[in-house]
Amino acid sequence: MTARPSWVDDPHPSIDEQRLGTRGLRRGLALLGRLLPGEWLRTVLWRGLVAKPRKVLRRAATGFYRIDHVYEVLEEFASEVEGPLSVLEFGTAQGYATAKLLYAIRHLGLEDRVCYHGFDSFEGLPAAVDPEDRGFRGNDWIEGSYRASLAGIEAYCAAKGYRNARFHPGYFEATLGPELLAELRTTPPCLVWLDCDLYSSTRTVLERLADVLPTGCVLYFDDIDFNYGSRFTGQARLIHEINHEGLLGSDTELVLDRELSWDSARIYRFVRVGERALAYRPRFTRTVPAEARPIGDGSPFP
Ligand SMILES: C[S@@+](CC[C@H](N)C(=O)[O-])C[C@H]1O[C@@H](n2cnc3c(N)ncnc32)[C@H](O)[C@@H]1O
Repeated sequence: MTARPSWVDDPHPSIDEQRLGTRGLRRGLALLGRLLPGEWLRTVLWRGLVAKPRKVLRRAATGFYRIDHVYEVLEEFASEVEGPLSVLEFGTAQGYATAKLLYAIRHLGLEDRVCYHGFDSFEGLPAAVDPEDRGFRGNDWIEGSYRASLAGIEAYCAAKGYRNARFHPGYFEATLGPELLAELRTTPPCLVWLDCDLYSSTRTVLERLADVLPTGCVLYFDDIDFNYGSRFTGQARLIHEINHEGLLGSDTELVLDRELSWDSARIYRFVRVGERALAYRPRFTRTVPAEARPIGDGSPFP
């Protein structure tokens, strides 16, 4: 056996080692590694028995799954807001997520309160002409991708008996017109699913919707990771333009919802202040001043 490297018994552990308590673990792993013959075997075992399980556990514990927030958002609005609401999905394609959104509304007993609106050209993606839709590695969006059938999705909804589902076939420029926007003021959106891939399509949607979204509305960006989430392209570009270039006005921003986003950066709250701001009708308003907590002891226990 070779001599123990000095860092294994380093009498002066780094701040990180002290803080994370990793010193003992590192020492154990170093000793285990030295018992295994050869770099190849050590590497294979490390990757299979340490790195992969660590990644699986991390993903299982903290990884974002895009359906979970749907239930949380619906529960939040059902309990805190008065009156009818809507959920909007931009880019339904063949209805994979539509089925999940509609079932969430049903599962929570909100079919009479929450109307679902699905939007799609059903012709597939339009041509990606904006430079903001160009992939860094040539992985551009392909025109006509995700072509789908409206009849298929409507048949699914009829078979399931969903009476709260409405579909708006056509390009968003045409389907998000003044009449529908006026209607959305009376059934304010609580969740807007932006699964239409393109910067240009998402921009059309948010420019049209901005005047009917109340502050606090949840926006889900399915394609934010395009080009590593760079602010130069895709939906991340649009968020940057809204927050840093005033695209929707200096009174409007999108705030990352860290609780709903988990380890992603996909979920934002629409925030507008001042004269143009819209608000949901709250179910409860505080009428008595909050009381200060009485003094306890100094331990961390509450
Ligand atoms: C990735 S797919 C949607 C996937 C779907 N949400 C699912 O869960 O399977 C993107 C969809 O956005 C639609 N789309 C993109 N831009 C559009 C636009 N400007 N107008 C209408 N539809 C558009 C496309 O037709 C396509 O079906």
